[in-house]
Amino acid sequence: MIYADITGWGRCLPPAVLTNADIETLMDTSNEWIVSRTGIQERRISHVTNAELARVASARALAAAGISAEQVDMIAFATSTPDECIPNTASMLQNALGASNAAAVDINAACTGFVYSFNMMSDMIRAGSIKTALVVGSERLSSLMNWSLRESAILFGDGAGAIVLQASDNEAGFVAGKLGCVPDTRELLAVPDFGLDAIAQFRPLDVSIVFSGQEIFKKAVKGMGDACEAVVAEAGLGLDDLDLIIPHQANARIVEAVVRRIGGDMDKVVLTLDKYANTSTSSIPIALIEALEQGRVKPGMNILFTAFGAGLTWGASLLKWGERVTPLGETDISLPPTDKTGLDLINAAIARRQAYEQTN
Ligand code: UT7
Repeated sequence: MIYADITGWGRCLPPAVLTNADIETLMDTSNEWIVSRTGIQERRISHVTNAELARVASARALAAAGISAEQVDMIAFATSTPDECIPNTASMLQNALGASNAAAVDINAACTGFVYSFNMMSDMIRAGSIKTALVVGSERLSSLMNWSLRESAILFGDGAGAIVLQASDNEAGFVAGKLGCVPDTRELLAVPDFGLDAIAQFRPLDVSIVFSGQEIFKKAVKGMGDACEAVVAEAGLGLDDLDLIIPHQANARIVEAVVRRIGGDMDKVVLTLDKYANTSTSSIPIALIEALEQGRVKPGMNILFTAFGAGLTWGASLLKWGERVTPLGETDISLPPTDKTGLDLINAAIARRQAYEQTN
């Protein structure tokens, strides 16, 4: 039996912080509303491209696994904010890392992209098609925000997380997975005009997220709840056997509702959304790495991932952690510094948008 063990991990959080107090200067909202309705206190805003965030997270993951980029057979790059559509972002990352033997694919399942990618790459390793995969979740959602829409702009942040999956004889890694997509719900969460439809009609690129928060909330709780129950049952486990629950970090109230629905224990949940908000497909690897750094991950633990996102996609993965909870190595690769605050970066983006609107 071949297992797909997580042997490396790395994340990249851009340094510029945008607090709720900063957002109060941009729109009619309040720290009190944001914290009580979502649990979010601040988020990071990137001063570099999505691929650069992914490059730093990936270099750290490879160092933690103690392998070279040439050893990677496949890069799965989960994102819904690609710097370019053609060629894909995974090939950009392949070049930046020097992963010359790797196949490279972008996976867009919105915020569920990491769970989709983790399950798919684990299955490829377990089937013997590949030996080593780099699974990356990386997003630069701040570039899609309309800073006059308070229902969506408060929710998101930028960041990247990456893991290395390697074939192993040891019983560790992926145990069970369940993926799906709620039919007839595509309009609940979308970025209209962000593709060929707009180009075909020669419309200027003027994008922002369209959002039905409450509808998504209800479907997210059901989708994630059902997926969690399915993977726990498939693994032949009970809820008490779970040691850590690492959910997509969209909203603390959604997480609590999912955990209540499946009869889980909030003490086992890893929450990072207070600091980083919703980083979409990056949120699970970022939270996993936070748990590792805090010593919450122990050898042999049963860990549950679950996520939902635009589509509306949903999914869950159950895995058994292996023996090693510390990185084998480190890298000095990091982001270029910036002296800008999150608010500086957002005000500059707003000014660019206004200038564009005046000239078009
Ligand atoms: O990862 C996938 C993407 N994430 C999601 O899809 C998130 C899913 N949904 C949610 O997290 C929640 O539905 C939200 C956080 C988006 C909204 O929370 P809610 O408790 O569902 O609020 P609501 O939409 O029912 O709005 C309640 C009130 C409304 O005012 P009225 O109509 O009651 O007077 C909104 O206009 O809160 C108002 N509101 C705000 N007030 C201050 C909405 N956004 C804000 C805001 N600041 N940022």
